[in-house]
Amino acid sequence: MNGISYLTMFLEPVKPYLDDPAVSEIMINGPRSIYIEKNGHVVHVEETFPSEPALQAAANNIAKSVGRVLNDEYPRLDARLPDGSRVHVVIPPLSRCGTVVAIRKFRTDSLSPENLLKWGSISPEMLSYLEKLVRKRMNILICGATSSGKTSILNVLSSFIDPADRILTIEDSCELQLRQPHLVPFETRRPDKDGKGEVTFRDLLHSALRLRPDRIILGEIRGGEALDLLQAMNTGHSGSMSTIHANNAPDALLRLETCVMYAGFDLPLAAIRNQVTAALNYIVHTGRLEDGSRKVLGISKVLPLDHGEYRIEDQWEWVQTGTDQSGRFTGDFVRHTQN
Ligand SMILES: Nc1ncnc2c1ncn2[C@@H]1O[C@H](COP(=O)(O)OP(=O)(O)OP(=O)(O)O)[C@@H](O)[C@H]1O
Ligand SMILES: [Mg+2]
Repeated sequence: MNGISYLTMFLEPVKPYLDDPAVSEIMINGPRSIYIEKNGHVVHVEETFPSEPALQAAANNIAKSVGRVLNDEYPRLDARLPDGSRVHVVIPPLSRCGTVVAIRKFRTDSLSPENLLKWGSISPEMLSYLEKLVRKRMNILICGATSSGKTSILNVLSSFIDPADRILTIEDSCELQLRQPHLVPFETRRPDKDGKGEVTFRDLLHSALRLRPDRIILGEIRGGEALDLLQAMNTGHSGSMSTIHANNAPDALLRLETCVMYAGFDLPLAAIRNQVTAALNYIVHTGRLEDGSRKVLGISKVLPLDHGEYRIEDQWEWVQTGTDQSGRFTGDFVRHTQN
């Protein structure tokens, strides 16, 4: 029995959803409440686990399959199933509704540029605009809400990188699928049970900068590594890219600023803002819309500061014009400036 079918045995109540390619995410909020995302819509389903111990057994087996444990001391788990699906678990008493499991399924249909176009996630003009930005070695930050498609867009943009470039990628859990030959992929490491051995984004960025990268791709900015990445972007590692949780481009800049503060150097705000605007060239904004589709909602150019305030110039924007008979939004990807 292979790893995934062994695990599926314990996940019996959600097996139909694990098998259904239209389901992208399964969210188990304790034994009695299960939601799924199907065709971009989050819906409640009838299935339940027989009991909390049965659900805990499933969670424990997931943990075991990746050589980890779930207990009072380690009540949270980040894992990747053998088929590439991403799992996060939180157990009681941290979770007050029983064991919580979220499974983001690995897609078998690739999120290729062709598919993004086919699904109306981006227009051909916008895609070739982004391709040019990547080839011109612009520093790009992808922002959006949770599960809006940031990592998927980062993957697509990374595919435009020249195969001759030496690329260093740093991620928490391996989601990028670059095909270029000169690739050095790094993954962070959590501390062991004695709190030792942790290797953070910042540590790996430190190494990356000593390994002569042409480009650095950081899976997601969440803390002080923002400062190191900005410094890298400002010191000759142009063409670097990352993602950040933020609802729009202006918020992404503010969030980036906050992350820089986590680095703990007590830098004056003006200095941080100067670093941010000097480093960053473009922000790409992704979103999941109410019709269930995911789209590139905008591309903005980062301009120099104006009296200490950020300025951005929208280049492209998704503008909804209506809804078709099947409930899907219709609209256009509109070009704002022509320079
Ligand atoms: N353009 C798209 N069309 C349809 N599905 C998509 C699209 N982009 C991403 N997805 C799907 O949406 C889910 C979330 O995608 P992704 O992991 O890229 O989001 P994210 O914003 O990086 O999420 P997180 O906030 O958790 O990091 C995945 O299941 C992915 O396959
Ligand atoms: Mg992501």
